[in-house]
Amino acid sequence: MVLTAPSILSANFLELGREIRETQEAGADFFHIDVMDGSFVPNITIGPFIVEQVKKAATLPLDVHLMIERPDRYVKNFIDAGADILTIHYEADRHLHSTLNLIKSLGAKAGVSINPSTPVSALEDILHDADVIMLMSVNPGFGGQRFIPNSLKKIAALKSMITQKGLTTVQIEVDGGVTIDNAADVAGAGADILVMGSAFYNSKNYKETIQAVREKTAR
Ligand code: DX5
Ligand code: ZN
Repeated sequence: MVLTAPSILSANFLELGREIRETQEAGADFFHIDVMDGSFVPNITIGPFIVEQVKKAATLPLDVHLMIERPDRYVKNFIDAGADILTIHYEADRHLHSTLNLIKSLGAKAGVSINPSTPVSALEDILHDADVIMLMSVNPGFGGQRFIPNSLKKIAALKSMITQKGLTTVQIEVDGGVTIDNAADVAGAGADILVMGSAFYNSKNYKETIQAVREKTAR
């Protein structure tokens, strides 16, 4: 079954406690939290303090996506704040192998994300050290962008690389522009976790949205 990770970037922050409860009641699997530094990406969003507050209200695991330069500097802050999965960008970290191991040594699952312009082949020598690979299907920085169609080929290429290496536990997460309409294609190409920001939080009925994604992606 494909897992869903609503991105709270598109939630109503004036009602965050209610949004967290309703997301959980809808049957989501994770909270996706987008951390942006205004340097790696043009936008500035959430820091460890908000992650800590979400952790107090949430029972679901927190999937924290660091879109920041030199993420190694902040790994400990975000794990202390409650990140269960901590994903860093290939393009932003100088020593990926050591940062992934730092994340795991602090008790979180370690994820690596690549931008739309970074080839899947760049991950060849780091796959063994990651728990999750996140493919960006939009250029990171903002919610509500359109899914880049070439991402489907990248998902399939990553899936076959993972299968060839026998790394059955590495999960593929896809982030950006995922909707009820393209969920079947994205999951069909090999995605295990679908991030959904605007398509989830702008929907009228969160539960129906999750159910629709499950139905469309049932294998
Ligand atoms: C983009 C973020 C995404 C975004 C997803 O930089 O990493 O997680 O919030 O939002 P949608 O689903 O609206 O593209
Ligand atoms: Zn994200």
